[in-house]
Amino acid sequence: MARWLLNSCVLLLLAVSSLQARLILPQSLDVDGIQLETKGAEALHYASVSPRVDDNSEGNYRLPNTTAPEAYDVELWTNVHSGLREFNGTVKIDLQVLEETKEIRLHYRQTWNFTAEIISRDLAQPVVIPLTFTNESTREFLTFTPEDTALSFAANTNWTLTINYTGILRTDMGGFYYSSYTDDDGTVHYLATTQFESTNARHAFPCYDEPARRATFNITIHHDSSYTAVSNMPVNETKSSSGVTAFQTTPKMSTYLIAFIVSDFESTTGELNGLRQRVFSRKGKQDQQEWALWSGLVVEASLAGYFGVPFALPKLDQAGIPDFSAGAMENWGLATYREQYMWWNKENSTINLKTSISNIIGHEYAHMWFGDLVSVKWWTYLWLKEGFATLFSYESNDIAFPEWDTYQIYHVQDYNSALLNDALTSAVPMTHYVQTPSEISNRYNTFSYAKPASVLYMFKNAWSDKVFRSGLNKYLTKNQFTSCDEWDLFASFQEAANENNLVLPTSVDNIFSSWSHQAGYPLVTVTRNYDTGAITLKQERYLADKDSGNSATWYTPINFATASNPDYRNTSASHYLLNVTETTITDVQVSSDGWLLINKQQAFYIRTLYDEQNYLLLADVLNSEPWLIHHRNRAQLLYDAYIFVTTSRLSHRILFNLLAYLKNEDAYAPWSNANTILTVFDRYLRGDDSYYNFRTFVQRQIEPVFDKIGVNEIPGEHYLNNYLRIITVSLSCQVGYVDCYTRSEKKLSEYLFNGVAIEPTLRTQAYCAGLRSPSAEIYSRVKSDLLSSTDATDRSLFITSLGCSGKADQLAEFLSLSLDTANGLSYSERTSLLNSAYSRSEDGLTASLLFLETNWEAYAKLSETVKPLDLALRGIATYVVSEKQKTRLNALVEEVKSKEPSYLADNLETVIDSRIQANFDWLDVHRDPTFTWIEDHLAEKGSGAMTMPLATILISALALLLSHLF
Ligand SMILES: *[C@@H]1O[C@H](CO)[C@@H](O)[C@H](O)[C@H]1NC(C)=O
Ligand SMILES: *[C@@H]1O[C@H](CO)[C@@H](O)[C@H](O)[C@H]1NC(C)=O
Ligand SMILES: *[C@@H]1O[C@H](CO)[C@@H](O)[C@H](O)[C@H]1NC(C)=O
Ligand SMILES: *[C@@H]1O[C@H](CO)[C@@H](O)[C@H](O)[C@H]1NC(C)=O
Ligand SMILES: [Zn+2]
Repeated sequence: MARWLLNSCVLLLLAVSSLQARLILPQSLDVDGIQLETKGAEALHYASVSPRVDDNSEGNYRLPNTTAPEAYDVELWTNVHSGLREFNGTVKIDLQVLEETKEIRLHYRQTWNFTAEIISRDLAQPVVIPLTFTNESTREFLTFTPEDTALSFAANTNWTLTINYTGILRTDMGGFYYSSYTDDDGTVHYLATTQFESTNARHAFPCYDEPARRATFNITIHHDSSYTAVSNMPVNETKSSSGVTAFQTTPKMSTYLIAFIVSDFESTTGELNGLRQRVFSRKGKQDQQEWALWSGLVVEASLAGYFGVPFALPKLDQAGIPDFSAGAMENWGLATYREQYMWWNKENSTINLKTSISNIIGHEYAHMWFGDLVSVKWWTYLWLKEGFATLFSYESNDIAFPEWDTYQIYHVQDYNSALLNDALTSAVPMTHYVQTPSEISNRYNTFSYAKPASVLYMFKNAWSDKVFRSGLNKYLTKNQFTSCDEWDLFASFQEAANENNLVLPTSVDNIFSSWSHQAGYPLVTVTRNYDTGAITLKQERYLADKDSGNSATWYTPINFATASNPDYRNTSASHYLLNVTETTITDVQVSSDGWLLINKQQAFYIRTLYDEQNYLLLADVLNSEPWLIHHRNRAQLLYDAYIFVTTSRLSHRILFNLLAYLKNEDAYAPWSNANTILTVFDRYLRGDDSYYNFRTFVQRQIEPVFDKIGVNEIPGEHYLNNYLRIITVSLSCQVGYVDCYTRSEKKLSEYLFNGVAIEPTLRTQAYCAGLRSPSAEIYSRVKSDLLSSTDATDRSLFITSLGCSGKADQLAEFLSLSLDTANGLSYSERTSLLNSAYSRSEDGLTASLLFLETNWEAYAKLSETVKPLDLALRGIATYVVSEKQKTRLNALVEEVKSKEPSYLADNLETVIDSRIQANFDWLDVHRDPTFTWIEDHLAEKGSGAMTMPLATILISALALLLSHLF
């Protein structure tokens, strides 16, 4: 499946919303970016795994191996067109008995009224044997035994088991479920659809619901004649009639990949290389399906070409479902999506969404091979399908749309997210056994998606694309229509390596399993001997706590770029760290005054820590000739340095020496990482008397790229400039770059008053940036738009943007809207206004405190049940970074407590104290070294704008004055 924001990871408006989210809450970098496929609410926690044994013991959730399914006939009756949820069905299973047994055990979930019988397929004149059943709801076993208890099933016999049952379409978006949409006329249209991964096929029909129990399926659906049904396979025309749709027989496949949709959807059709593709969704949205269709055609062709294995089924469809829990689902031949991850049009949708849609399609289509054609033996190897799907979501897009440079997006999303999450002590290995449905759904996380994608990408580079691709071709060809574990994959890689004469230090089994069987990844520490030219590489597991010693080792591929050989094209491994903690390399030519860089293109899944002298050499080249360092290495040098500074492995001096090259930078990935770092510093330093120096430093860095790409899209520009501009506009305005204010205000004003359209991609930034220092006219226009808008998305945009203002009077006016219960805003909208202000800037925080000092009583009365004042005070505490604001917040809490303690929860003060203390702790470590470096740097550059601008001082003074008046 495709992950995404849903819970943690949802991405849709991916870049836009995540950048926005970072501005609002950059408390720590350890946020899981965005994942597309989550299963169930637990999916975000990395539950600790206790090792389990796969045996037949009492607690075992696995089906016995005594019988095996070969073919299913599934026949279903639904009247969903009229909104009815009841359905019934018959499933006939051809099965083989492998070991003598008295019972046949299947899975079921939330189905009833079973009647069953079985008949031999081996005898010429078989008799029907009636069956009785028992069911066990915890393990979801449905067990059939002959009514005649003397009978048992002999080994090597063949049978057809028939079960009749009834069910109810679910409303929780799992199994065979119920969904609906309302058309423009207000008419409600019902539909029935499916989502089976991981363990929900058993809800639509009793079955052997484990991925390795592959069988063929004939599906027949009875429905109203005004509706249509689609499934994995094309319609079997001869067996279908009005109100009955029968589908052709599938190849042997896993139950969780079956899908069917009964609806009145409309579709658009295309064809490429003889493969027909259709996109289905609710009526009236055909104009929005075009991008998914086009993208689907070229992405499928890219994948089939890369693997050298054609798509296995006669047709491929995609459908957008009104209610859908995951991001998307790779049902074989019928991928399903959330509607908003499928619909796109030029007028209203962002470039980021366009990229995301193709990326999600790349993910689901890659599953057509990895997961569908070759499935996993068990959920232990979930990464064997999700890792490939994640990697090929990028690779397929890189082939189909090479001008996108999509691996920069990979770098800042999945690669960064894997490195962050896999550094936690709670990280789990890619390969580990799970058994119960809830354990299985816990596996849909970074360690099954982003990490394996990063590890696979590493070996694609370390062994060369040629070997990797040939290995995949062998794996897919040899194992098609069967189920595999990781050793099957490794065997194919080994074969490809041998055929291509790739010399490896040990077997692929050893190399790869050192990555799949242990959590974490290496921190490679590089120490150069500047006299002899020798390089010592040390490896250990990278953990945030540098003193928690550990001796984990990997077979780690290594390669180098150097001052005398800055060539990044060949990313294969020139050396390996051989599962040892330390090694010395003497055969890399690097002069003592030349820089050394490990991990060309940042293709390997490691962090690298250099000695300080080498960092200074790298900083020099970044400042003078940045193009000598690959852009993804530039991105990672910054990020790693930042991570090392926050974990006390590296000095601030090095980090800022590196950051100071940004004035020469115009690529997306480095700026994306830089933005993450600078946004964190901005959030903590904004209350400081020396903040102005930080702003000056950042302004100097961002000015050149801002001046170059501006606030408007430029026809023909690099695709990723669309992404870059989102960052440069918001960051340069965040740090008060005047050009950003004026140009953004002009852009917004031309839209508001002259109807000049804003590009959808830039809408969020245009509003916030345009309202940083707006005229009264613009501000009140957006405010009145907020009050008159009927669109919740627009209102949310207006609310977050109005909080961007740095003007006290405007903020006061804005915040007062929260008290006006008659203004048409909902309660949750009204109570989001404060957050929009205090999270954005020191001015916003001051305005929020001022507002509550005056109005706390009225604010508290907005709700009797949820204590809005208490929540607001907690939220504010998160952003308090100065003694002055701390004093003020504490005084306010004291006042409320003395007058109306019931407005506050008991633990409020403890929470406030600990939040503020956390901020002060950060400042204790980072403030002085940061300002020392920046002040030296500014002095050196000969323009120490060391004082606050007069206006800022006046505003602060006024705020203080006002606060004292009340
Ligand atoms: C069934 O067979 C598979 C494959 O050999 C094995 O991994 C699994 O443990 C067996 N299941 C049971 C319940 O014995
Ligand atoms: C299901 O219900 C329909 C009537 O709605 C009936 O024709 C059909 O035989 C039933 N099937 C089973 C297996 O009970
Ligand atoms: C099927 O089972 C359900 C739930 O136990 C029950 O309410 C219903 O009456 C049964 N229907 C038939 C046709 O037996
Ligand atoms: C059952 O079917 C298998 C092939 O599906 C066949 O090899 C075997 O001989 C059959 N058993 C009997 C008893 O006919
Ligand atoms: Zn997936």
